This record gives sequence, structure tokens and C-alpha cells, in this order.
Amino acid sequence: MNLLLLLSLLLLPPISPTQISVSPKTLSKSGDPVTIQWSGVDDPSSLDWVGLYSPPNSSHDHFIGYLFLSNSSTWQSGSGSITIPLINLRSNYQFRIFRWTASEIDPKRHDHDHNSLPGTKHPLAESEEIGFESGRGPEQVHLALTGQEGEMRVMFVTHDGRESFVRYGPGPNRMDQVAGTRVGRYEREDMCDSPANHSVGWRDPGFIHDGVMTNLKKGKRYYYKVGSDSGGWSITYNFVSHDGDSSETVAFLFGDMGTATPFSTFIRTQDESISTIKWISRDMQALGDKPALVSHIGDISYARGYSWIWDNFFNQIEPVASQVPYHVCIGNHEYDWPLQPWKPDWSYSIYGTDGGGECGVPYSLRFNMPGNSSEPTATRAPATRNLYYSFDMGSVHFLYISTETNFLQGSSQYNFIKQDLESVDRKKTPFVVVQGHRPMYTTSNEIRDAPIRERMLEHLEPLFVKSKVTLALWGHVHRYERFCPLNNFTCGALGFHGEDWEAFPVHVVIGMAGQDWQPIWEPRANHPTDPIFPQPVRSMYRGGEFGYTRLFATKEKLTFSYVGNHDGEVHDTFEILASGQVLNGNRGGDGAMAKGKEGSTISWYVKGASVLMLGAFIGYVLGFISRARREAGLGKTWTPVKSEET
Ligand SMILES: *[C@@H]1O[C@H](CO)[C@@H](O)[C@H](O)[C@H]1NC(C)=O
Ligand SMILES: *[C@@H]1O[C@H](CO)[C@@H](O)[C@H](O)[C@H]1NC(C)=O
Ligand SMILES: *[C@@H]1O[C@H](CO)[C@@H](O)[C@H](O)[C@H]1NC(C)=O
Ligand SMILES: *[C@@H]1O[C@H](CO)[C@@H](O)[C@H](O)[C@H]1NC(C)=O
Ligand SMILES: *[C@@H]1O[C@H](CO)[C@@H](O)[C@H](O)[C@H]1NC(C)=O
Repeated sequence: MNLLLLLSLLLLPPISPTQISVSPKTLSKSGDPVTIQWSGVDDPSSLDWVGLYSPPNSSHDHFIGYLFLSNSSTWQSGSGSITIPLINLRSNYQFRIFRWTASEIDPKRHDHDHNSLPGTKHPLAESEEIGFESGRGPEQVHLALTGQEGEMRVMFVTHDGRESFVRYGPGPNRMDQVAGTRVGRYEREDMCDSPANHSVGWRDPGFIHDGVMTNLKKGKRYYYKVGSDSGGWSITYNFVSHDGDSSETVAFLFGDMGTATPFSTFIRTQDESISTIKWISRDMQALGDKPALVSHIGDISYARGYSWIWDNFFNQIEPVASQVPYHVCIGNHEYDWPLQPWKPDWSYSIYGTDGGGECGVPYSLRFNMPGNSSEPTATRAPATRNLYYSFDMGSVHFLYISTETNFLQGSSQYNFIKQDLESVDRKKTPFVVVQGHRPMYTTSNEIRDAPIRERMLEHLEPLFVKSKVTLALWGHVHRYERFCPLNNFTCGALGFHGEDWEAFPVHVVIGMAGQDWQPIWEPRANHPTDPIFPQPVRSMYRGGEFGYTRLFATKEKLTFSYVGNHDGEVHDTFEILASGQVLNGNRGGDGAMAKGKEGSTISWYVKGASVLMLGAFIGYVLGFISRARREAGLGKTWTPVKSEET
């Protein structure tokens, strides 16, 4: 062997024997599965991984997500396969296999769970590109009320912004009415900071379409599809139009849900969101032809600057959001950034980088809530919208507010809230429900937010008390907690002993729909049933389980219930009469006590739901249960969660 040959053998990289293939090559729509297959991995290690790349020319470190090859049961043989659903990101995907070694673990590069991000020094193989069929129509369909009778807004995403329409009508074969759509989008330069404005987090968000179906008859089922003849049409969806003459209200409410990805990525995602959407779908099926509402009060997708998380989120909620209006308010994880325009002196401990540089832009453009509240961003980015608004549905007046922008006396938001609460027609809507992201009351150890709670108590609580707000719902704390009717930390009389009751607002924290990360209310060894944060008298119920809440109201009575994701059952429930009196809102330490109370009013739909469960949903549920917090279902009241988020 001559020297030259030896040298060249040393200098040439060894030809990697690793093969990777992906099938199918073309997917038809988001959620379709793709199988990644590999072979020839020499000396396989549990740190070998495959990265997902979109667009396919992204640099090695800018993956969308990753999976360890050890997820395949045969990985030790050097070959294996993984099947995952893919979301249409409007550009092709490529998959790359890397070797990563323990000595290359960089403790400074990690995700929110302190998992080190995998290294890309040793690429082993790259797949061909795969993509989505064109002409299959838009995706990410979601509805919203406009605030006008006889209307329903529908929003969706296309890859090219071509002229698109909504076709709708009273039957799947009678979609004779047509509405045009307005198109909007946002650019990388609109993002305020990284990762949102950096190649690691930014991806083209596509074009956002916004159309309004009009002249809808009250309380009727409508069928619709979106798209165009040239770009293709979506599947046919349906919804029940709202009925201004009905006094019934059905709503599903929660905060802080997020989304679940089938791969690991740069940030924590929320597996529990699968369960939340699943149980709400069950309830919606059982509702039959009644209109309903979904309310997601801040911390929506938890994208925090990683663009594809928004795509994932809208695909995940579509089965619900294409059938009932999906209403939102803004949370810190949509907005919060260092140069935000409203950042008074007292708030420096509160506001940071929770929005990942998005500065409210995706939130403002991907949703379109009623009213036209907006605040300038003080950058080239479009104004922040969907801040505060209200509408009536049945016997409830819903008011949504922003805890992220100015709400102090003298601000335009304060004036709106005051004027709105003062002008409610209580004969028409005996109940008033206010919703915002950061809580006015919580017994969780939320030290960072203390200054904002003080301002909310000082500026907003007097308005709520004076206007006899029925319910104040908050997110942000990833727990369920219900308070007595409250004014300035004091419980109002309930009127059970002949005294006058005081119709103070009942505050409920409902941020338990998906995101983890909360200090625990854990029992001490010698006090197995006592939480670590003492539960003051005003806190009537604290739940440690993920879940959502249901609101059911007639002209006479509003029933509010907390459903746990671990079993799909009601764990806390109370009723409020039109007079403002709170019934059976007793202190309930654990879920068992409260169970069944909801029965009187809406057992019909819970029962119907159970029947459905046995049918259509059973396969899904079985599949789900393996991921669920099974231990929780076995009677544990406390779910240990991860460390506190600041
Ligand atoms: C990938 O390709 C697109 C268009 O072909 C180009 O605009 C973009 O800069 C490329 N990205 C990288 C990281 O090379
Ligand atoms: C891969 O393995 C991890 C860790 O065991 C698990 O959390 C994840 O769900 C698995 N993913 C797939 C697609 O199997
Ligand atoms: C992202 O925004 C920050 C803050 O405005 C800026 O300093 C940075 O240069 C931007 N990065 C990119 C890649 O545009
Ligand atoms: C929209 O804003 C204008 C002024 O900026 C106001 O006069 C109007 O009432 C607002 N419309 C709604 C629906 O809130
Ligand atoms: C709330 O209660 C505290 C102490 O009990 C009292 O000092 C304060 O003035 C009260 N605030 C209002 C607005 O009544």
C-alpha cells in the first residue's frame, strides 16, 4: 500500500453504511402518518437520533423536532422504523440521522425540561424529501362569533394566499351560499426577538384567511367547506348557529392548554392537551343540536417563538374549533417581551421574555375576536388585537379582558370594562362572566405576579363587585381552584341562614388544561390530606388534576363544573342563581364529595356522552390511556408536577 493511498484513506470520511427511507413520499393532509425506516447503523447507541427538517434545506441545528432511534424496539440491531403523524408546514420535510455521544452533551443547550438538545456533529444519513399533495384545500379551520346576530366567522390557512371562499348552507349538498375571505399574514421582521425572529424558530406561517358567514337562521345546523376550485376544498364541516332567542348557554372553558407534538422539540409541549380536546369532543357529541362555545383564556399554543407549534396547535384543535366558536384572550406566552409598550415601574419583576419574541403578532392575526380593541406594538409589527371584547350568549354576558396590557383606571381598557359592565341588560343576561389570563386570586405560590394582583384588586375588583359580576375566570396557574363569593379577600354571606346573601363574584382559576409546571400542593408525610400551601377559608376547592370546566346556564341558574382529564368525570360543581346566590358551593376537599351534584341539570348530556364513549370513542380512548396519568385515575388526589416556571 503506498503512502498516498494510505493518506487518502485517512482523510476521506468513512462511507456511512446507514440508509434511511421514508414512506409514503406524498401525504394528503395534516395528521397523516409517515414511516421513517433505517438500517446499517453501526454499533448503535441509545443517543442516535433522527431530526425532522422543514424546509429541507434547514441547517443541521435548525430541526423542527427529533426522536431517538431507540424509540424503535429493534434499534439495537442497527435498523428500525418509527411512524409519526406529520403536520403540513407548507414546505417539504427531510429526515436526518445523527450519532451523538455522551461526551458531546452540552449542558448549556437544553430544552425547558433540562433535556440536552442533541448534537449534530456526526450526520449518518439524509432521507429524500417528502411533501404534501397540492390541491387538497386549506387547513387549520376555526370558528368565532363576530358579535353580530346571524353570523359566524371562519378562519383558515393556505400556503399561497390565493382567493378563497367559504361555501355554506343548511345541508351537505346544499352549500349554496358563498362568502369571500380577507387574507393576512405576518413576516419574520414583525417578530420582536429570538427565537421568533431567528432561523431556529421562524418558519413561513402561510396565509391566514378570514371570512364571515352571514344571514344564518337561529339555532340551525349549517354545513360548510373552505377553499377554491383552483386550490382545492377542505372537507365539509358543520356547526349549530347561535340562537339569540334562546336563554340557554353551554360553554367549555379553560386556560393554558398548549399542544402535543409527536416528537421532542426545543420547548416543552403539553401532552395533556390531547385529553382535554378528547373529553370536550365527547361532550360536544352529546350536546346534539345545541350551540356551544369554547373559551381558552390565554397561553394558547405555547409556541413561544417556535412557529410550527402554532401549526400543530391549530391542527389539534380543529375537530372542536371547526364545530364551535373558539374564543381566546391573551396570555403572557403570546405577548410578554422586554420592550413591550406597557411596562410600568412596578411591573419589572413580572414581564420578561415569556412570548419568545412573538410580541402578540401570531395571536393577533391568527384569531379575530369581536370588537376592535388594539394597542400599538411600538415596532413595525401590526397592532396587538383581540385584547378585550364582550358578547351575549343565551343567558350569559361574556366579557374577555387582557391582563397583559394596561387595565388601570384611565386606560382605554378600563373604560371599556366599566362601560361594558354598566350596560349589561340583566333581564336578558342575568349572568356576567369575566375572563382574563393572570388571576386576581390564587393560593398558589405566585410571588412574581403579586404586584399585578394588587393592581387588579385595586382597579378592577371594585368594578366587578359593583356590577355584581357572577363569575371571574382566570388562567396562568395550572390548577383548578374555586373561591367563595369574594370581595377584598372576604367571603360574602351565602344567605343559608336567613341572612341576606352578598352576590360577590365567584373567582375560579382554570389554567389546568395542559401545561404542567406548577409548584405542588403536596401532602406532607404526617398530613397526607393537607396541602403544603395552607388552604385559606376563601379557597373552597383546589384540584391537582388536569382538565377543563363546563358552564351550563338557563335564565334561572348557572351550573359550573370541573371535569378531570384522568377520568372524564366531574370533580367539583356549584350553582349560582340569577339572584346571585351561590348554592351548594360548599368547601370540597376532594372530588368525590362533589361528584353527582351536576346531575340535576345536565345529567342528560353527561349520560348521553357515556353511551357515546362506548361506541365511537373507545378505540381512541384505549389508545390514549397508555399515555394518560393513569396513577391519577387510581384515586391519588395529588399529581406531582415539574418545577416552577418563572
Ligand atoms: C432554503 O431555500 C429557500 C428558498 O429556496 C431560501 O429562501 C432559504 O434561504 C434557504 N434556507 C437555507 C437555510 O439555506
Ligand atoms: C419515544 O420515546 C420517548 C421516551 O420513552 C417517549 O416519551 C415518546 O413518546 C416516544 N415517541 C414515540 C413516537 O414513540
Ligand atoms: C431579532 O430581534 C432582536 C431584538 O429586536 C434583534 O436584536 C435581532 O437582531 C433580531 N434577529 C434577527 C435574526 O433578525
Ligand atoms: C371600533 O373603534 C372605534 C374607534 O376606534 C369605535 O368608535 C367603535 O365603536 C369600535 N367598534 C367596536 C365594534 O367596538
Ligand atoms: C381591603 O381590606 C384591607 C384589610 O382588611 C383594608 O385595609 C382595605 O382598605 C380594603 N380595601 C378596600 C378597597 O376596601
